[in-house]
Amino acid sequence: MVVDSSRDRRVAGPLIDLVGDDRERAVPVIRDGFVGVYRWHAKRTLREVPIVRALELDGAVVAVSLLDRLVPQVGYVYYIAVLAAHRRRGLGARLLDDALDQFRQRAAEVVYAAVRSDNEASMNLFEHHGFRSVERKETGWREGGLGAWGLRSRMWLVPGETLLGLRLRPAATGGRGDGADQGRSQPA
Ligand SMILES: CC(C)(COP(=O)(O)OP(=O)(O)OC[C@H]1O[C@@H](n2cnc3c(N)ncnc32)[C@H](O)[C@@H]1OP(=O)(O)O)[C@@H](O)C(=O)NCCC(=O)NCCS
Repeated sequence: MVVDSSRDRRVAGPLIDLVGDDRERAVPVIRDGFVGVYRWHAKRTLREVPIVRALELDGAVVAVSLLDRLVPQVGYVYYIAVLAAHRRRGLGARLLDDALDQFRQRAAEVVYAAVRSDNEASMNLFEHHGFRSVERKETGWREGGLGAWGLRSRMWLVPGETLLGLRLRPAATGGRGDGADQGRSQPA
């Protein structure tokens, strides 16, 4: 069977940063990817987060990721979305690979994402990148000095979502030295 991947090759251009007014170009992707309060929140987040990465096809944005760091050591993937017409071609995976690179370059230790448990595509995307479900109580470990309440207040978690975590590198040792984190499980 001959597979015509010319379209995918064209999509496989470099990722770009969207800044300033250019971020409005990502709104159609967000409209396509989310409904209700998620759409409202994603559009607001699009204007507020420090990092917005995008893939283009024929001059139009077709896939976008909204990224932030809760503290320097903690990355957070707010949203990843791909236009419906371009899904299942690896664009979501490219954006998540890139997001992890972005966080590694900024010396993050862990990355979190909150995903609706019934969003099979999204759960697969993150789990295939090594993320695993993290119990809320586990946010008690000190990631860059950010304790459970700090993390919860910065993450937008709602009922029906699973908090996913991926450890990029070992937690810095030293800290308080009181063994407070010993025995607690950690993201992969
Ligand atoms: C989730 C989303 C970003 C995936 O984008 P995509 O470009 O279609 O994903 P990819 O083609 O790169 O596939 C990545 C992985 O997700 C899995 N996946 C993608 N779509 C899937 C689906 N409909 N059902 C099950 N698994 C799916 C694939 O199996 C793939 O894993 P694998 O290649 O290791 O098998 C896309 O479906 C989307 O934009 N959804 C709407 C917005 C959203 O829900 N975003 C996530 C929450 S922030």
